[in-house]
Amino acid sequence: MHMEDDAAITAIGVGKTFPVGKHTVTALRDVSLSVPAGTLTALTGPSGSGKSTLLHLIAGLERVDAGTLDVLGRQVHACTPAESAALRLREIGFVHQDFGLLADLTLIENVRLPLEATGTARGNAAAAAREAMARVGLEGLEQRFPAEVSGGQQQRAAIARAIVGNRTLVLADEPTGALDSATGAEIMDVLARLRDEGVTVVLSTHNPANLSHADRVAVLRDGMLLSLTAPGEGAA
Ligand SMILES: Nc1ncnc2c1ncn2[C@@H]1O[C@H](COP(=O)(O)OP(=O)(O)OP(=O)(O)O)[C@@H](O)[C@H]1O
Ligand SMILES: [Mg+2]
Repeated sequence: MHMEDDAAITAIGVGKTFPVGKHTVTALRDVSLSVPAGTLTALTGPSGSGKSTLLHLIAGLERVDAGTLDVLGRQVHACTPAESAALRLREIGFVHQDFGLLADLTLIENVRLPLEATGTARGNAAAAAREAMARVGLEGLEQRFPAEVSGGQQQRAAIARAIVGNRTLVLADEPTGALDSATGAEIMDVLARLRDEGVTVVLSTHNPANLSHADRVAVLRDGMLLSLTAPGEGAA
């Protein structure tokens, strides 16, 4: 099988089931796709179609049951939980619908957390956190607490935390889901700008307006990949 040299993610025949009582629920079946580095891919599809599950598998938050999943050159289907945790900490940023910031820490302390956890010297971590915040348009708000800024600014901080230390893969589960449409559009602009700078972005969304920012749209239904299209390609 041909594998793109510059693929950030390559999934081949990926499946995932969850035990629910005596039964199992199939969340994903036979999903194969590749995500070129430096592109923005949107996962869409009805509720329960497997979008979050796919993001969790890519992040190594859940374990693949079937198939193979290569992420940034690592065979995550074969990674131990500790190896997956290390990969998340150093190379993968995860952005949640509800931002997931720690309320007792300032924005810059939140952004710095992944670097502190990897033992980066304090001064270097502070400089990198400032830089990440500037990249998402948060300069001047470093010392605010999450409750002292808007939802859109909180989401920008979560994105800064995802890219701090020059991490190059951002996974975002419904990053605009908790925001009004104008603020959601701003967040999509931030993610698209990071893509332009070389960051690989994979996000899930229910909002069709967000798809216009995507290089590629993956449609899931009942755990299967229905289609993977490049909206801009071939357009008049
Ligand atoms: N931890 C879990 N235990 C049991 N079933 C789960 C679990 N996580 C997901 N599922 C099931 O897997 C399927 C896919 O769920 P998933 O959360 O990936 O869908 P989704 O596309 O993200 O939906 P939504 O748009 O509502 O966020 C659903 O049937 C869901 O009920
Ligand atoms: Mg979901």
